[in-house]
Amino acid sequence: MRDTVVIIGGGKMGAGIACCAALAGHPAVIIARSEEKAALAKKNAAANIDELVEAALYTPEQGEKAKALLAAGTDAAAFTDSACLVIEAIYENLPLKQDMFKALDEIFPAEVPLCSNTSGLRITDISEKCEKHLERTVTTHFWFPGHLVPLVEVVVGDRTDIEVAKAVKAELNRWGKAAVLVKQDKPGQLANRILQAVIREAVNIVEIGLADPEDVDTAVKMGMGIRFPVWGPLEHIDAARLDLCQSVQRTVLPEITARQDPSPVFAEHVDKGEIGYESGKGIYDWSVKDMDTLAKNRNDFIIYARKFMTERGLL
Ligand SMILES: NC(=O)c1ccc[n+]([C@@H]2O[C@H](COP(=O)([O-])OP(=O)(O)OC[C@H]3O[C@@H](n4cnc5c(N)ncnc54)[C@H](O)[C@@H]3O)[C@@H](O)[C@H]2O)c1
Repeated sequence: MRDTVVIIGGGKMGAGIACCAALAGHPAVIIARSEEKAALAKKNAAANIDELVEAALYTPEQGEKAKALLAAGTDAAAFTDSACLVIEAIYENLPLKQDMFKALDEIFPAEVPLCSNTSGLRITDISEKCEKHLERTVTTHFWFPGHLVPLVEVVVGDRTDIEVAKAVKAELNRWGKAAVLVKQDKPGQLANRILQAVIREAVNIVEIGLADPEDVDTAVKMGMGIRFPVWGPLEHIDAARLDLCQSVQRTVLPEITARQDPSPVFAEHVDKGEIGYESGKGIYDWSVKDMDTLAKNRNDFIIYARKFMTERGLL
């Protein structure tokens, strides 16, 4: 029986995806470039499972069962007879991904969808060197942290068979993920287009001096953000009345930025080496702000929201 999910690349996302596949009852094998890297990735996937069990999103029995389904190795070809799905999560580098897809296309039979976890590249470009079955190539963009965030964007490439994409989406929904179908292969997929619109205006508000960064982040987190898990923007405009939103757009859209290039705010910081948390300074000064607490609060809130949505049958 074909039931193994083969994950190529054992970094942050590979370990998260393997965790999700195993919790869904699939043997999940992580393929890395060395036995050591593979073993570490398997350990990280098991740690992800433990985190979900500790959060009571899964029972200890479910966790143990899933951990027993994790495997790691260096040879994807060993799984050509057992694979039901291949998900690539190697570096975000087009030539590297193209070579990987060409190789995967050679060894896996036509019925096995070949998926890429790319955040920004087009599956149409990633699959360009494939010579056999382009129709089974599709993007499956898990959001970080992959074991916690429900969203997966399933993007249809120019040569993807839409039925393959729909089947992959249905399979990911069976895993308990919130998979969405993106019908055109464009930069930003779906959710990053919306996120970029938010970031563009957030940066613009700081640039024009309308508010300080802390207040911009508070407004997003405590206003629209706190509603978003259960209240989407299109549901919002129907609830608020379309004629009202039309009138608000007439007044507000001319006032907000429509810029097509990155705000100069980015260059001001980047040119000084202030690239954000990694360099200690960006929009904020990270010598006085605590990223560990911020990330922990983010994860705990996602867990809290997932429990709520599971209880209400929303996920
Ligand atoms: N980190 C994120 O926030 C995030 C979110 C969504 C999607 N993604 C995407 O997921 C993919 C992986 O990102 P990541 O954050 O896990 O990166 P990462 O650097 O943590 O992991 C990449 C892994 O790929 C391995 N690798 C590289 N070439 C390989 C090869 N030829 N064979 C096998 N393994 C190979 C590396 O050793 C490394 O372990 C990228 O395409 C990225 O854009 C990342």
